[in-house]
Amino acid sequence: CHRSGAILPIVNKEIAPDGFTRPATLAWGTFPGPLIQGTKDAEFNINVIDLLSDKSLDLATSIHWHGLFQKHTNYADGPSFVTQCPLVPAESFLYDFKALDQAGTFWYHSHFRNQYCDGLRGALVIYDDNDPHKDLYDVDDEATVITLADWYHIFNERTSDTCVQFNSLNGKGHYPDGPLFYPSCYRFEMLHLISYRLRVVSISCDPSFFFSIDSHQLTVIEVDGISVQPLLIDSLQIFVGQRYSVVLNADQPVDNYWIRSLPDAPGRNFSNLNNLAVLHYAGAPEAHPTVDPTVNIPTSKLPLVETNLHPFTPSPVPGRPVPGGADINITLNVVLDFSVGKFKVNGVSFDPPTVPVLLQILSGAKNASELLPAGSIYGLEANKSVELTIPGGAIGGPHPVHLHGHAFHVVRSAGNSSYNFDDPVIRDVVSIGNTGDQVTIRFFTDNPGPWFFHCHIDWHLNAGFAIVFAEDVPTFRRRISRLMPGRNFALFNNFINITG
Ligand code: C2O
Repeated sequence: CHRSGAILPIVNKEIAPDGFTRPATLAWGTFPGPLIQGTKDAEFNINVIDLLSDKSLDLATSIHWHGLFQKHTNYADGPSFVTQCPLVPAESFLYDFKALDQAGTFWYHSHFRNQYCDGLRGALVIYDDNDPHKDLYDVDDEATVITLADWYHIFNERTSDTCVQFNSLNGKGHYPDGPLFYPSCYRFEMLHLISYRLRVVSISCDPSFFFSIDSHQLTVIEVDGISVQPLLIDSLQIFVGQRYSVVLNADQPVDNYWIRSLPDAPGRNFSNLNNLAVLHYAGAPEAHPTVDPTVNIPTSKLPLVETNLHPFTPSPVPGRPVPGGADINITLNVVLDFSVGKFKVNGVSFDPPTVPVLLQILSGAKNASELLPAGSIYGLEANKSVELTIPGGAIGGPHPVHLHGHAFHVVRSAGNSSYNFDDPVIRDVVSIGNTGDQVTIRFFTDNPGPWFFHCHIDWHLNAGFAIVFAEDVPTFRRRISRLMPGRNFALFNNFINITG
């Protein structure tokens, strides 16, 4: 078992990933942040230090390790005002957690307001020596992690739909109207006849991306940190926060090929140009591919269809879904109140409490009904199957919803009226689709603690599209009270009177 201790300083720095200089909020001063790597069951000790000083941006911060279940370590999950207070400048917080039984592709990002859109986001990979798909690829290293991101020329929040937005692949991109067009493309060096595990990570704030590589097919082997039965595709749509591992066989003629990532955010002014990188075979000319990158690959080619994804190993009982109703059934009706620009989930817009939910429990709240914000907390008893249904209709657009602390079975996905209880894909972000769609997910309450559930389009989270599941409060309360001595929960602005 490994222990990886590290410090992660959060700093302000001016960067110009697309040729336009702006201040950013960054982990270790880079965009995206450094790749964090570990091995299955490894122990992470990451000391995040808030060194922020630019008052035009947020000065507070907290970090979420997206996709890690944080079993026994809910306090290290990171969402501000749910499990902790945000750090303020000069404070630090030790995130110590284990990748218990988890391996695959994850990411980390600020979970304070819309701060990750200002740059505080990066990939996190947990390697597994016993990966069931090991035989399918030769190379799986830092160089094959691909982050897809959006980037903004204004700070902190989108003030209009017409602001400049561009997209980046591994932190490089093009700004269509600017002086740079393709010169800054990221280049992947590959050897002929070698196969690569590409880890495609959406660290986006808003658009999904259609990802593909000219002349090459891809085999999906992992979805959101869970191995799946191999599935051959030509292109995939990846929503905010999702991850896919795909195997690329470099078996085409030695040459240069475009790697494409086309942003899609209905109603929003993304450039609608492919964001590009180059796949360069060793020995190929030092040049861009000759294919016109503005001509899109035909969409009729094999796209990834979510219902074709099946876990490699069936999930263990009792977490496995069974037909015929769960122990707890919840419908989440989401509307957008245009008059105030707020989302409401079952009538309530999430407004962060001044005392984080975890600290409310530590301070004496004994059950979910005592927790704030009222109307946004859903109490869940231990060891129950929970079925969530989210109609996609009323709010338009494919909203990618994310659950902390769990992965869930997608028993009914967007575009389907039928259920699959046998071998549905298990993941931690799913698009709820468009008008007429009814997405249904199942998870099992085996992880006590307050867990955030929200739309991962970051503007929507800030506009109230969120709830908190308070899972097994009595057990959580006992555990967290034991842990309390000596632990710094980063008390912020409010003095919390701990009554035990
Ligand atoms: Cu990746 Cu609550 O977020």
